[in-house]
Amino acid sequence: MKADQFGPNQDPMVVNWNRFYFRPMKLDDLPLMHRWVNAPHVREWWDALPTIEAVVAEYAPRILGKEPTRSFVVEAGSRPVGYVQSYRIADYQDYAKHLGCDECAAGVDLFVGEAEFLGSGSALLREFLGTVVFADQWLTECLVGPEIENHRAIRSYQKAGFSYWKTVQIPGERAPEHVMRITRREFESTNEVSRSIRG
Ligand SMILES: CC(C)(COP(=O)(O)OP(=O)(O)OC[C@H]1O[C@@H](n2cnc3c(N)ncnc32)[C@H](O)[C@@H]1OP(=O)(O)O)[C@@H](O)C(=O)NCCC(=O)NCCS
Repeated sequence: MKADQFGPNQDPMVVNWNRFYFRPMKLDDLPLMHRWVNAPHVREWWDALPTIEAVVAEYAPRILGKEPTRSFVVEAGSRPVGYVQSYRIADYQDYAKHLGCDECAAGVDLFVGEAEFLGSGSALLREFLGTVVFADQWLTECLVGPEIENHRAIRSYQKAGFSYWKTVQIPGERAPEHVMRITRREFESTNEVSRSIRG
């Protein structure tokens, strides 16, 4: 039987893990967020937030619309598997000044919270660019800034279409950022190619 004879949902064992959904984070998600940010694979590369109080202090203002960063829970099927946030870099003037980026640039940060979903990062990020970041017609490029030693993240973002832009040490941060960029034009041209390959 040819692969294309399988329709969607005909085999309950076949799941399209490359299909991710992004829903705005709610206050109810914060205990889950606390577990995720303290999972060993995330804690190594994410801001230290050891207590639930620290997690609430960091994320509740965003959920309540008091800060410009938009926070999303990533779902695969209906299962929450990770976290992604996006923001207009110009809304954080100090950061924008150090980066020297375009006025219309977005920034993203993410993690795969459930360790069994590691391996999905680049697909998840690609999906996020299409459904959230570049859905905002005003934005012309997107930046992501993993620490220079975070080789796994750097490779994942390369696979998602980002390329190295510059290395920046932000005052107060523990390590320099390996800043990577994808422009809207680059994203849209590679999306066309993958759409035509999928048919
Ligand atoms: C960063 C993150 C989202 C990437 O998602 P992921 O599912 O791990 O990434 P992918 O599977 O898409 O890609 C990882 C790539 O790095 C490679 N890799 C894994 N460990 C590596 C290492 N130590 N050095 C170099 N490459 C490595 C993988 O083999 C894979 O490349 P390949 O497909 O060419 O083999 C995820 O690892 C994560 O949540 N990490 C913890 C938090 C974090 O670092 N967040 C980023 C903050 S900017």
